[in-house]
Amino acid sequence: MDLKKPNYVQARDLIKGKSVLVTAAAGAGIGFAAATRAAEEGARAIVISDIHEKRLATAVEKLRDDSGLAAVFGKVCNVAVEDDVRALVDYAEERLSGVDILINNAGLGTSKRLIEMEDEEWYRVIDVTLNGTMRMTRCMMKIMKARGQGGVIVNNASVLGWRAQQEQAHYAAAKAGVMALTRCAALEATEFNVRINAVAPSIVLHPMLRKSASQALLEELEAKEAYGRAAEAWEVANVMLFLASDYSSYMTGEIISVSSQRA
Ligand SMILES: NC(=O)c1ccc[n+]([C@@H]2O[C@H](COP(=O)([O-])OP(=O)(O)OC[C@H]3O[C@@H](n4cnc5c(N)ncnc54)[C@H](O)[C@@H]3O)[C@@H](O)[C@H]2O)c1
Repeated sequence: MDLKKPNYVQARDLIKGKSVLVTAAAGAGIGFAAATRAAEEGARAIVISDIHEKRLATAVEKLRDDSGLAAVFGKVCNVAVEDDVRALVDYAEERLSGVDILINNAGLGTSKRLIEMEDEEWYRVIDVTLNGTMRMTRCMMKIMKARGQGGVIVNNASVLGWRAQQEQAHYAAAKAGVMALTRCAALEATEFNVRINAVAPSIVLHPMLRKSASQALLEELEAKEAYGRAAEAWEVANVMLFLASDYSSYMTGEIISVSSQRA
């Protein structure tokens, strides 16, 4: 494997026959990559969700076409809205005849120095990133408990949950919260055979991020990586799929860093 130019991995039926729900999966990043890898790894049916209706419809078509899996469905959901979350989980339960794997990918970031931050921006980032993950996790846990067949939840945190970066106090606080939520919820969920873990990626560059962040900052972040490059979205998705699969049966409440950073 060339670490600078990694080969796309071969599927191994890691989650053969399982059903999967992924939030925020209509973008160009980790969410869609996770749904794609899930299809390649043998998922029997997938619901992808996103706040963006038009992009979601396109993503459903693309995932069906690329993977050859017919059982791909889409449902709009803003994870910051409790009614949306309930409607999404109900829809996925019905469409998939039970959700085996939930991938909580939704998260929102902006860049702002703390002394310039208005409450509104702080709350918006926390509400989507931390509260959204909590809402999805809480709703899914209740349903998995009632169904009595176990399940797996994989959350998307960030290395910023551990590390400092200027202009990221709100996002880093939210991701540290996602890590704590993962650990605590996992303890409660073992009682009904549900495992909950998280990935903490460093940087994945994709067209949408390139458009919204400064080029200088992205180059600085890439330079911090020992590989001198950002991760491909599918490299993070692979770790999510490992956590979603029975290969990680002795792991719950864990956070895996997906990073080549030196510090
Ligand atoms: N890209 C990175 O470098 C990086 C690094 C560490 C962690 N992460 C985390 O990975 C996750 C995915 O980020 P990504 O950059 O790979 O992009 P992505 O393509 O996986 O996700 C972006 C999608 O999220 C959707 N979205 C935004 N707000 C939403 C909401 N309120 N409800 C539902 N969907 C919503 C957008 O419409 C978009 O389609 C996020 O949680 C992010 O914080 C990303």
